[in-house]
Amino acid sequence: MATSRSSSLSGGMSTPALLQQSTAAALFLLLLLAPPTLTTAQLDINFYSKSCPELEKTVRQEMLAILKESPTLAGPFLRLHFHDCFVRGCDASVLLDSGPNTPIPAATAEKDAPPNKSLRGFGAVQRVKDKLDALCPSTVSCADVLALMARDAVFLSSGPSYAVPLGRRDGLRSVANDTKQLPPPTSNFTRLAAMFAAKGLSPKDIVVLSGAHTLGTARCVSFSDRLYNYTGANNLADVDPELDGEYVTALRSRCQSLADNTTLAEMDAGSFETFDAGYYRLVAKRRGVLHSDAALLEDEETRAYVERQATGMFVAEFFRDFAESMVKMGSIGVLTGDQGEIRNKCYVVNSHH
Ligand code: HEM
Repeated sequence: MATSRSSSLSGGMSTPALLQQSTAAALFLLLLLAPPTLTTAQLDINFYSKSCPELEKTVRQEMLAILKESPTLAGPFLRLHFHDCFVRGCDASVLLDSGPNTPIPAATAEKDAPPNKSLRGFGAVQRVKDKLDALCPSTVSCADVLALMARDAVFLSSGPSYAVPLGRRDGLRSVANDTKQLPPPTSNFTRLAAMFAAKGLSPKDIVVLSGAHTLGTARCVSFSDRLYNYTGANNLADVDPELDGEYVTALRSRCQSLADNTTLAEMDAGSFETFDAGYYRLVAKRRGVLHSDAALLEDEETRAYVERQATGMFVAEFFRDFAESMVKMGSIGVLTGDQGEIRNKCYVVNSHH
């Protein structure tokens, strides 16, 4: 059809114009006939199929062993990937240690900035990387290891599985100050929307990805302003009006002071090791632990999503949405081709730089 249209339109055209027309038609046809593409940005789910065919199987096996030993690490692995992607793109910059071995001598790395002080799981990432390097030396990037570990953490906690586009390269820099790009827990919706939009993510991605808070814990210090000092008046009446009154009491019995930065609270109380839609039921009842969780009720679109998922009848939809948004988040600012490097040790750049 495309061909016949191009010839009927070509009457009276000069040869180069005719050529251009038929090339365009051929390209159009090719596009129509091409198989659905398996890539996002320059990433490809088959990236290591020749260079490290056992990659995904190996990561899965290691993750099974790691989570068996330390079940509470599922949340931290997921959070590591998020914190990696939001700062300088998904380039494993979050894994680099501060100090003279970074290209900026004695620089403070992202890892040591306040929003990252409570990250966990670094040793396990290196454990998986070592296993892979024994199998396919200097082939798989730490950034891809993080993306796969996050996917497996979700799946092994009863969440969805999804194909992870691969081929990220590791970055050469990590700067504490760049962690300002991570949304703080005190964020309102306007702030969340702006910070996610800066990474190419939509309000739907915000509400879907916040569902990650179905896993894991928060330190009291991340939300105790809501219990004791919401406006700065610093008295027992100074609570966040967006937080359910009974839940204030329950959280206060766990977090007894404003300064407590060691006690942990489950974010999806009762099922914090299972990936499910329970988080949305809590948020809908104004029992989200962080202010940023409560903020999902401020916007019409995200509120509707929370309420729909709170019914518990659309979990399959949440799982599909989560997989889709994770792939989107996982492609933020990636380095590919000959950019960056494949790090040997995830906590330090290779020495030849
Ligand atoms: C919407 C903006 C977000 C904010 C403001 C936020 C903030 C936080 C904070 C403050 C904590 C507790 C940290 C602590 O006190 O130790 C936390 C934990 C966590 N976050 Fe988020 N987060 C957001 C989005 C996300 C996203 C997009 C993901 C992943 C896709 C994620 C995954 C997690 C997980 C799994 C934990 C639990 C970690 C653990 O158990 O140690 N968060 N988040």
